[in-house]
Amino acid sequence: MKKLFGVIGDPISHSMSPVMHNDLFMVYGIDAHYHPFHVKRGDLGAAVQGLKAINCSGFNVTVPHKTEIMTFLDEIDPLAEAIGAVNTVVHEEGKLIGYNTDGHGFLEGLKRKFTVSDSTKVLIIGAGGAAKAIFYSMAHAGVKHIDFCNRTAEKAAQLIESCPFTVQSNIYTREEAEKRLSSYNLIIQTTSVGMSPNIDDSPLSLENLGTGAFVSDIIYNPLETAILRDAKRRGAGTQNGLDMFVFQGALAFEKWTGIFPDTVRMKQNVLKHLGGKKC
Ligand code: ATR
Repeated sequence: MKKLFGVIGDPISHSMSPVMHNDLFMVYGIDAHYHPFHVKRGDLGAAVQGLKAINCSGFNVTVPHKTEIMTFLDEIDPLAEAIGAVNTVVHEEGKLIGYNTDGHGFLEGLKRKFTVSDSTKVLIIGAGGAAKAIFYSMAHAGVKHIDFCNRTAEKAAQLIESCPFTVQSNIYTREEAEKRLSSYNLIIQTTSVGMSPNIDDSPLSLENLGTGAFVSDIIYNPLETAILRDAKRRGAGTQNGLDMFVFQGALAFEKWTGIFPDTVRMKQNVLKHLGGKKC
């Protein structure tokens, strides 16, 4: 019987996940379908119960349900538990098991373009949900020095305080971070600053960017944000948010099927569809 997968969120019509996963099911000859489900805040419990009852094999979870979903699951992976958010659910032997592939997906995508070592000094701009997943996954993977620059310092302080992994972290204001920018090898932009339609906004001046530094932005609409344009102009290596999106999807696909899919194909497929859709 055809297996059912999907994604739940509000809004959901913009999601590229159906395009990405349905193509993979076709490529790997898996008799399955991935469907976008529009689930409003108050309907989450009923929706999850329904998906379980109709034997949905697995689903992704997106805004605004990534935290609340945890109360409706049977088991939660320890890293997802620490992050406090689930983006992937596997339905296995009658149990719904939650994982977070966002942070790991970011790292997997990054690894293809930048080598993270023991001595890598990281600056994360932003301290929201995405920053948390990336921060905890990096600390979990052994990155030792990760600083923050966020509009609201208190939010960054909370992330650092609640991190269960050993990592050295400081919080800087925008001005302080701009001044000491040359001490970082890797800068990760996780805020919504620069996202379409405000494509000329940048959360940080890169005037003091160090030689050999790498700048990653998790935004992929536009594909090249103002901060990435600036970084490129200064000769730095850059990466947009498409890799994180593709690799979080690849890791979810692997959890559902046991196959780690062709991420080059996935990226090409998403790029092809991005032209006609808002993301
Ligand atoms: P996500 O889940 O995508 O990370 P989020 O949890 O709402 O979204 O986090 C958004 C991040 O972008 C926060 O760090 C936010 O800063 P605050 O903690 O001060 O709210 C940051 N952000 C959003 N708009 C911003 C702006 N105009 N200038 C600076 N930072 C901004």
